[in-house]
Amino acid sequence: MASIEIRSVRKLYGKTPAVRGVDLSVEDGEFVVVLGPSGCGKSTLLRMIAGLEDVSAGEIAIDGRIVNDVEPAHRGCAMVFQNYALYPHMTVAQNIGYALKVSGVSRQQREQRVERIAATLGLENLLARKPSELSGGQRQRVAMGRAMVRSPGIFLFDEPLSNLDAKLRIQMRIEIKRLHRELRTTSVFVTHDQVEAMTLADKLIVMNDGLIEQAGSPSQVFRQPQSRFVANFLGSPPMNFLPAIVDGNGRARVAGDLVPWSRLVWDLPAGTKLDLAFRPAAAQLASGPIQPGMLPFAVEMVEDLGSEFHFHGTTAGTSIAVATPVTTELPPEPFAITVPGEAVHAFLASDGSRVEPRPISIKVTETSGADACPEKSLSFI
Ligand SMILES: Nc1ncnc2c1ncn2[C@@H]1O[C@H](COP(=O)(O)OP(=O)(O)O)[C@@H](O)[C@H]1O
Ligand SMILES: [Mg+2]
Repeated sequence: MASIEIRSVRKLYGKTPAVRGVDLSVEDGEFVVVLGPSGCGKSTLLRMIAGLEDVSAGEIAIDGRIVNDVEPAHRGCAMVFQNYALYPHMTVAQNIGYALKVSGVSRQQREQRVERIAATLGLENLLARKPSELSGGQRQRVAMGRAMVRSPGIFLFDEPLSNLDAKLRIQMRIEIKRLHRELRTTSVFVTHDQVEAMTLADKLIVMNDGLIEQAGSPSQVFRQPQSRFVANFLGSPPMNFLPAIVDGNGRARVAGDLVPWSRLVWDLPAGTKLDLAFRPAAAQLASGPIQPGMLPFAVEMVEDLGSEFHFHGTTAGTSIAVATPVTTELPPEPFAITVPGEAVHAFLASDGSRVEPRPISIKVTETSGADACPEKSLSFI
């Protein structure tokens, strides 16, 4: 087991920056997921930890020891790639045991170790097979076995599930989670798949353009995105964004004159441009005509996903999506939506950073008996 400290790490390829200054701590036994779009520098960061790329500036320490100049073989990391490239002429057992053979471990010890790992990965009945006789998921498990065989202090995963079909990905995701629970090996897992990221991470790091946008628990990052980029990147269908302008009373006006959230007051100069955002599932369908607190919603298309409906359309000139349970009874047209103020996120249009409204004080009034309904007992002042 091992901890990782990354301090002000940069990577330039020629003059092009790929990683532009990253600070990150990975604690002993932690499972950290680095999530970001293609090209944002995830693989470069991982390869620098492994020692497969030099760092251009900054430091990487493993267990407190700076490893900038330490050979990959001596960093105690094992890497699992998307293209798991097993040796085609070797059996599963030989593939898993190869690294031990190369380093001179006796045949008997090798066999014991390979058997133990095969049992952990559910490969015990496949040890004599060649890679061509395995399914994609089984091959990926063999690749995991190869990484595990030397009991590395750190696992580095570079999009290991990207080549698998949807069902297998879910299976392997659960498998990896189970393995981590058993082995507690410090892990850094790189992906562009938000579901993988949300479900696997103890700590989630969202990267964009060579920088960390946000780090935190998956639920923190999902519920309190600190930038428009993070808000937009996490969630499916993605967050809805409505352009708004702060008026002289600190209220956000949408499409000129609508004030859908009169309780939200922004301590920002009049004229400040905001992007107000809410998740598709946070909106509720309602019926017009438009009353205070409602937004008109012109529905263009409804998708039936089996477990939920997705309504696509426009509100105040902006395309949005609304997700509802399938049991929802459709209100009569014209449609409108309401979104509770607590579900609204706001970002400065200028730089995309999150801003909070003035705190709303909540007064909880005493109620009792048949009236003790939690919703009624909350009143806004
Ligand atoms: N060996 C390389 N030489 C030059 N540029 C590279 C090299 N590897 C990656 N890059 C560039 O660095 C940036 C980050 O790449 P990468 O770390 O592979 O991103 P990700 O893994 O997030 O998709 C990209 O713009 C990519 O084109
Ligand atoms: Mg990559």
